[in-house]
Amino acid sequence: MAIPEDVIDQIQDRADIVEVISRYIPLKKTGRSYKALCPFHHEKTPSFVVSPDKKIFHCFGCGAGGNVFSFVIRHENLEFPEVIEMLAKKTGVILPRNITRQKEDVSSFASQLYKINELACQFFQTCLAGDDTARDYLNSRGIGDETIKFFKIGYAPNAWEALLSFFKKRGVQEAVLEKAGLAIANDRGGYYDRFRHRVIFPIIDLKERIVGFGGRVLDASLPKYINSPETYIYSKGRNLYGLNFSKEDIKKRGYVLVVEGYLDFIIPYQAGIANLIATLGTALTIDQVKLLKRFTNTVIMVYDPDEAGEAASLRNLDIFISEDVNVYVAELPSGYDPDSYIRKFGAEEFTRVIKSSKNLFDYKLDKTASRFDIKSAHGKARIAAEMLPTIARISNAVLKSNLVKRLAEALSVDEEAIRTELKKVKPDYEARHYIIEPQEGKKDFRSAEKMVLSLMLEEGRFVKMVGENLSIDEFKDSAVRDIAKVIIELYKERKEIRPAKLINHLENKEEAAILISEVAGLAETFQDKEKAVTDCIARIKKDNIRDELDRLQVAIKAAHNSKDENKVKRLLVEYDSLVRNSKV
Ligand code: GTP
Ligand code: MN
Repeated sequence: MAIPEDVIDQIQDRADIVEVISRYIPLKKTGRSYKALCPFHHEKTPSFVVSPDKKIFHCFGCGAGGNVFSFVIRHENLEFPEVIEMLAKKTGVILPRNITRQKEDVSSFASQLYKINELACQFFQTCLAGDDTARDYLNSRGIGDETIKFFKIGYAPNAWEALLSFFKKRGVQEAVLEKAGLAIANDRGGYYDRFRHRVIFPIIDLKERIVGFGGRVLDASLPKYINSPETYIYSKGRNLYGLNFSKEDIKKRGYVLVVEGYLDFIIPYQAGIANLIATLGTALTIDQVKLLKRFTNTVIMVYDPDEAGEAASLRNLDIFISEDVNVYVAELPSGYDPDSYIRKFGAEEFTRVIKSSKNLFDYKLDKTASRFDIKSAHGKARIAAEMLPTIARISNAVLKSNLVKRLAEALSVDEEAIRTELKKVKPDYEARHYIIEPQEGKKDFRSAEKMVLSLMLEEGRFVKMVGENLSIDEFKDSAVRDIAKVIIELYKERKEIRPAKLINHLENKEEAAILISEVAGLAETFQDKEKAVTDCIARIKKDNIRDELDRLQVAIKAAHNSKDENKVKRLLVEYDSLVRNSKV
């Protein structure tokens, strides 16, 4: 059963957000709030703020935010019910006996998308069974039928609307398929399949749900791979391909191999090397490193030396260092990746390469030393400049000092010189790499909608004003709409509206937490709040009309192109009356 709301509220009332967060990171009091370096992205100056009054936190740097539960969920990588259980214990709140900690309630939209992905996966699998060319391709890459089944590999047919018509028969709307990342809107108001004539690898999360797909061409055409875009249920930076298959093996062996591609995961796995994950060719994020840390603290990067030779790819590894992960680098002969190496030389030979991996510091030192002249003063300075940011990220002072000594020895310079240079290194070196990008499609929160939300959180009478002047559908941002809806309901039930509690009432807690923490307090400084509400309501209405006009314009163009003069006329009338009635 779900956890009763009053129990959640009770835990939240007793859990002091400042106390809880300061168990994880040091907080510094500034005025009425507390500041810290954000634990969710790398930064040099604090932009992470905790407000004990509002019982929320928010990072102005990366946008992370929420209430006490959100913080623990993200920091410990736990689920909502697990955090409730943990904080209930700490605060002495007794949970009703029959609470099972199994499933988190997922929002209905999320579960709709999971279901769509599941069906799409089945569709692709069926198509593969019926297509010799695609199966031959996979077989030619050494993927057997058992493996195809195990990884649920499929095939997207060579057509523009194969998947679309499959779903049409099942009554799924095209716009929903677009949100699932499976269809793309064209500029004539129609849609087409994202994946066409590609073998399909489903991306599965730790709860065995299909969150996205990757598709590879069968020949040398480009782009070689297409992946699902960011969707409501899929965030590239928070998933690691294959972890659902490999997590037990990673735990058992005590380390994980990090490879790049789908095939680099599948081929070793098929050969019995199952403690690995694939990054799908992108730089790792802090969230991904935290995810891995749930299973192991030791990582072996498997590299093609051509790529590893590049400073940037080694620099990416520093993210592990900051998270106190032991990093090793295994180097395959030039031109090979795990897939091609195993296919040519076998799994045993591959294991030998893994066994010969070096720790990151030694590896990096070797690489940089070979790029510069270690004998010349200039060369030494260059090598030091490459090595110091890595050392700077090590939090343990003993380990750090040990590496300073080793670097000094390798360069035959004074240890003190290295220490002096180390002090100059900014800890947020290349921090850009690790900043969590706002999710695609969410950048476009309309400021007026957000502002209204903020005002609704300030005073009950504004909730009333909004309720009377805007219908809920007029909020175009789905996250804002969901929150506004709950606020209005709470207001009608004469319940207290508090940002931190509101988060617990919402289905998609993570998204809600970020948004609520962002807008809470936004309107605090307004002089004339009532006018702000009126202005924002007007703004929202105006934006909606403008959108509607844009939509009509596209439709008119399309009707014109298809020479449907009647439709053009009808749409023009609609357009005119909208313009006249709205005076935009
Ligand atoms: P194969 O040629 O099938 O063996 O692929 P690979 O995995 O060896 O390819 P590569 O090393 O070039 O790329 C590694 C990973 O990066 C792939 O598995 C993909 O996830 C990703 N990737 C490669 N090419 C593309 C591309 O053109 N677009 C996108 N979005 N991702 C790509
Ligand atoms: Mn490959």
